[in-house]
Amino acid sequence: MKVRKAVIPAAGFGTRFLPATKAQPKEMLNVVDKPLIQYSVEEAVGSGIEHIAVIISRGKSALMDHFDQSPELEYFLEKKNKLDLLEQVKEISGLAEFCYIRQQQALGLGHAILMAESFIAGEPFAVLLPDDIFDCPVPCTKQLIDVYQEYASSVVVLGRVDKEGTKKYGIIKPKQMTETTFQVLDLVEKPGPEKAFSDLGLIGRYVFTPEIFDAIRRTPPDHRGEVQITDAIKLLLEEQSVYGHLFEGTRYDCGDKLTFLQASLALALKREEFQRPLKDFLKTLE
Ligand code: G1P
Repeated sequence: MKVRKAVIPAAGFGTRFLPATKAQPKEMLNVVDKPLIQYSVEEAVGSGIEHIAVIISRGKSALMDHFDQSPELEYFLEKKNKLDLLEQVKEISGLAEFCYIRQQQALGLGHAILMAESFIAGEPFAVLLPDDIFDCPVPCTKQLIDVYQEYASSVVVLGRVDKEGTKKYGIIKPKQMTETTFQVLDLVEKPGPEKAFSDLGLIGRYVFTPEIFDAIRRTPPDHRGEVQITDAIKLLLEEQSVYGHLFEGTRYDCGDKLTFLQASLALALKREEFQRPLKDFLKTLE
């Protein structure tokens, strides 16, 4: 079955970015010249996704405005003959069909995904965590969809993580199938270096069969009272195989202040108009 729908969880408080996120969603923080979430939306669309549910919470209306039409702005740009900008602005609202679902309480990533059950309506679907920007020859979600099509099973994206990474990411116990595909035998959320099965971490992209929703419903909350998607995948494993895909490309983690700055700089340096002046500027700082 074609993967046409995606869920983008964006309901968190963004506490790691305070004070920047006191009155503005983390997902709207600017990376080079567009908000963080737009990278995930463009990746989804580039992967064949047509319908996107964004899971939001109070204070996130800027997200809805960003992907909506903006008649006043469009009228203004047209009148001023700023046609390039007009085109860009119009493109954003036409990217996909958007649906916004409120998660009333911060009860974890698994719970946030469960909010989209009726929107997904029994289809396979992708999940993109907007903290991560993937710059890949084939969009990362598309790479997962290709593996999903081959194995007709849920697929998680994998990246090699260091010791510190085992405290930040879900970690899998792998059985290698091909150079880049692993069967997931077991997995655990943020185990730390002692309990980690491997150095293969879940880094923010998933394709799920709809059976994940039952698994989420059966997942008990963790010690913080949150339902983790990693724990739900562990329950899904009792009924279905799950695969992991070591993606091809570069991932930029925008999840905390330092990595966000590094990602912004790296992505800006890839842009022709910024590269030379930015490099010159950086030299003056040394
Ligand atoms: C979440 C998931 C974790 C995953 C990570 C990827 O954690 O629970 O399994 O490895 O995203 O970024 P969070 O970053 O929300 O704490």
